[in-house]
Amino acid sequence: RLPTHVTLKEVGPRDGLQNEATHIATADKVQLVNLLSQTGLSYIEVTSFVHPKWIPQLADAVEVLQEIKRHKDITYAALVPNMHGLERALQADVDEVNVFMSASESHNQNNINKTIDATFPILEEVVIGAKAANKTVRGYISTVIGCPYEGYIEPEKVLYVTDKLLAMGVDEISLGDTIGVAVPTQVERLLETLLKRYPAEHFAMHFHDTRGTALANIMQSMEMGITKFDSALGGLGGCPYAKGASGNVATEDLLYLLDGMDIHTGIDLQKMLEAAQFIEQIVGKALPSKQMAILRNE
Ligand code: HMG
Ligand code: MG
Repeated sequence: RLPTHVTLKEVGPRDGLQNEATHIATADKVQLVNLLSQTGLSYIEVTSFVHPKWIPQLADAVEVLQEIKRHKDITYAALVPNMHGLERALQADVDEVNVFMSASESHNQNNINKTIDATFPILEEVVIGAKAANKTVRGYISTVIGCPYEGYIEPEKVLYVTDKLLAMGVDEISLGDTIGVAVPTQVERLLETLLKRYPAEHFAMHFHDTRGTALANIMQSMEMGITKFDSALGGLGGCPYAKGASGNVATEDLLYLLDGMDIHTGIDLQKMLEAAQFIEQIVGKALPSKQMAILRNE
């Protein structure tokens, strides 16, 4: 019933660092991505082309993408909110363009300053522009289970946004439990709704581990046929416009689980830990992953 292969999409350099208060030098971000490129990952979300006033940490997005050493088998992606961002992302020759919005109205307003319905035409323009430049497009939907302002979100709201994004030509949807409130029964209910209409290949899951439920939710998702998961090394991460959001599920903790169950990822756990040790030393504080805690206690 469980898959034999799973793809992990590393979002640490973007989702992890966007929430990090300590200023991180461009050279250190480049070094982080270069270390991640040696782990066997096939996908790295490198940075974000949002307004630097909103996310000053990632203001050097063009430089980072231009300075990393690229591997031909790795997709180097970035967040893009609008045409202004797309222009910079194409200038930096991003491989994949990642648009984003929320399933809940109030989180969408707080995060990107628009209503849900006013967001669609903005993203559609980006999708058209990205496709014209021969780029694939990923679409994030945030707050798919819980919203910091509205509480529980009904699956129908997620389906509504999913329909629109797929109709625009988005290649893959990443479903975000932005504030890490989900439990497996809720994941089951959400996926039942979506998988009635679309094949599992359309979806990736993006769990934050605020309440320690991310791995349980990933197990539930795999049992329902999902084979793509977002994670961040060290458990770095969070959304600065979602109060109480903490890190993504830690890549190395997820790898421990998958390796132990003989579910292949192609990623070397040891090399992932080396990259996590590097960034831990740069941010200057203990990262939340269990594997890192084990290393520190050795
Ligand atoms: P806005 O202020 O509504 O934008 O922001 P606007 O279109 O009205 O433009 C205002 C000014 O900003 C203009 O400049 C634009 O040129 C400029 P002016 O003419 O006044 O001088 N501008 C830009 N500059 C640089 N880059 C740009 C850009 N866009 C406009 N891309 C906007 C709208 C979406 C840009 C803003 O709200 C924003 O940047 N929000 C970012 C929020 C964010 O980054 N959140 C975190 C990422 S999402 C997340 O973490 C969740 C996820 O991980 C999944 C999950 O966990 O659920 C993906
Ligand atoms: Mg996130």
